[in-house]
Amino acid sequence: MMISFSCAEKEKAIHTDESTSTYAANNHSYSNIHEINSTHIHLDLDVDFETKTIQGVARHTMNNKGTNKAIFDTKRLDIQKVTLGVDEIETTFSLGEYDSILGSPLVVDISEEDTLIHIYYSTHSESEALGWMDASLTHDKKYPFLYTQGEAILTRSWIPNQDLPENRITYSANVQVPVGMMAVMSATNPTETNDTGKYSFTMKQPVPSYLIALAVGELEFAPLDHMSGVYAEPDILEAAKQELQSIPQMIHSAEELYGAYLWERFDVLFLPYSFPFGGMENPRLTFATPTILAGDGSLLSLIAHELAHSWSGNLVTMANWDDFWLNEGFTVYFENRIMEKVEGKEIADMLMLINYQELEWTVNNFMNLGFEEETHLKLDLEGRDPDDGMTDIAYNKGAFFLMALEEAVGREVFDEFLLNYFNTHKFQSITTENFVKYLNEHLIEKNNVNFNVDEWIYGPGIPSNITKIESPRFAEIQELAIEIQQGAKLPKDLKREDKITQEWIAFIRAFQGNLSADKMRKIDEQLHFRDSDNSEIMTEWFVLGIKNEYTELRPDIEAFLTKVGRRKFLEPLYAAMRDQSEESREWALKVYQKARPNYHAISYLTIDKMLGL
Ligand code: BES
Ligand code: ZN
Repeated sequence: MMISFSCAEKEKAIHTDESTSTYAANNHSYSNIHEINSTHIHLDLDVDFETKTIQGVARHTMNNKGTNKAIFDTKRLDIQKVTLGVDEIETTFSLGEYDSILGSPLVVDISEEDTLIHIYYSTHSESEALGWMDASLTHDKKYPFLYTQGEAILTRSWIPNQDLPENRITYSANVQVPVGMMAVMSATNPTETNDTGKYSFTMKQPVPSYLIALAVGELEFAPLDHMSGVYAEPDILEAAKQELQSIPQMIHSAEELYGAYLWERFDVLFLPYSFPFGGMENPRLTFATPTILAGDGSLLSLIAHELAHSWSGNLVTMANWDDFWLNEGFTVYFENRIMEKVEGKEIADMLMLINYQELEWTVNNFMNLGFEEETHLKLDLEGRDPDDGMTDIAYNKGAFFLMALEEAVGREVFDEFLLNYFNTHKFQSITTENFVKYLNEHLIEKNNVNFNVDEWIYGPGIPSNITKIESPRFAEIQELAIEIQQGAKLPKDLKREDKITQEWIAFIRAFQGNLSADKMRKIDEQLHFRDSDNSEIMTEWFVLGIKNEYTELRPDIEAFLTKVGRRKFLEPLYAAMRDQSEESREWALKVYQKARPNYHAISYLTIDKMLGL
């Protein structure tokens, strides 16, 4: 799963920039929400593929508690003018110093009565939120593509706003795009391309700013049922629809577990291969990487994950980035419960065991590097990029914490607790401390159990009461791997279709980095990992190949890296190439030079750092 390898890469980038001296940043935002906060944003946007910029107006409706300054977050935005009220009277403003993580505060002069602020702006051609893909990088190769990625703190690089998860806004938008293209948002969406290129949106449920999202491309829509469907370029629409057949069942299962789905629609948008993440839970419209289209539905836990965020994250939101585990840990737990309902316990256990392996590596890595506090669930990211907190700790230690709680009180009691938790906190944000208080009152004390909550949340490593998961199918394939490593032959009749993706991942991992190129070649002849077209299997296999100088793989690795921009795959591959040998490092640089223009900023900024560029 997530970025297990980056943990080792991540230097502790303690921020020494002095620019915060004029305006204090709190929770990675300069905005003064306790004096004045946005409640609704209306966007008028013009998307220009020629200059790769968005020209826009962000019209904020504010709840002004009596201040004469409104502070917003911006990052490399060109602010042209700011006006106030329905009459749009121009006012004065200033931009504070630029900070490489936080951007610049925009300070607008207002009166104590002002509640309507219009900010005229355009984005920078290298806005970090915006992925501008030339037509050659799309599936159909006819039109270019644009998509935004707001989480963690990138919304400020395409919309001037109070960019912190604590504040919630409703929003609406009018978006002008080139004729022939469709625009979609995390809001009410069109299902057909119109002939004006003008699209209107509303999002009436209040959301944190990182969930505002926009994509523009040659898109078509295919329904799955009355409340779900798929958006994709025509070339992959049918495949996407086939792969996602189980979405209605997933929604049904999720609702059975933790209550009604409150966002009306659940659609999935497939992006170009450059999308830096597996998925992003933009409300009403999950953004997804096309690398989950494996043809056999075996990578759909990612959709279950983004769906689960409709409760954990989108409905009940972490208050600060330090509480990121409240979003992701709950979601991995919930995701696994959905998978258990849809695919059965055997499969769900295998998925969770893969997560466990990653958690173990991540914890060991941090411990070896002496970064013990990085293994706490509750983090302290002050002065650092919130991206640093996106590790397997938040995801998997978080999920295993909830599993341990479930084990302590029993499933029935725990499910009722979670249902109430979501219901009581819906459309609100919550800190770790408030969660602990709620947990103690409504679960621990109520059921009279002893539980090491503090050790799990504020302590290092993996507590000993972690749930032990066993999978006979994993044990079998791992045994086979060891035998092969020791010289046994692959059973002649074994084919790739005989095992599911997760079993093959367990198989490849069981070699622990050691398998001769010769043996790898033989396995490829029979099982076709290298040309499996399964992104998860290929990444694991390629890393093993790099470590064992199975150099015939190089053209495949190069082709994969120039096509796919998902950071989770890029990181382990480039790290292995960099560390293998001097010659292999040079090869990495050569491949990267070619591939970099195909990546989104989120990915290339990470890889730049990894390769010391
Ligand atoms: N919300 C995350 C993606 C994210 C986190 C983006 C932090 C930016 C900052 C999303 O739900 C996620 O976790 N995606 C995972 C897939 C999931 C199955 C673990 C990913 O993209 O790999
Ligand atoms: Zn997530």
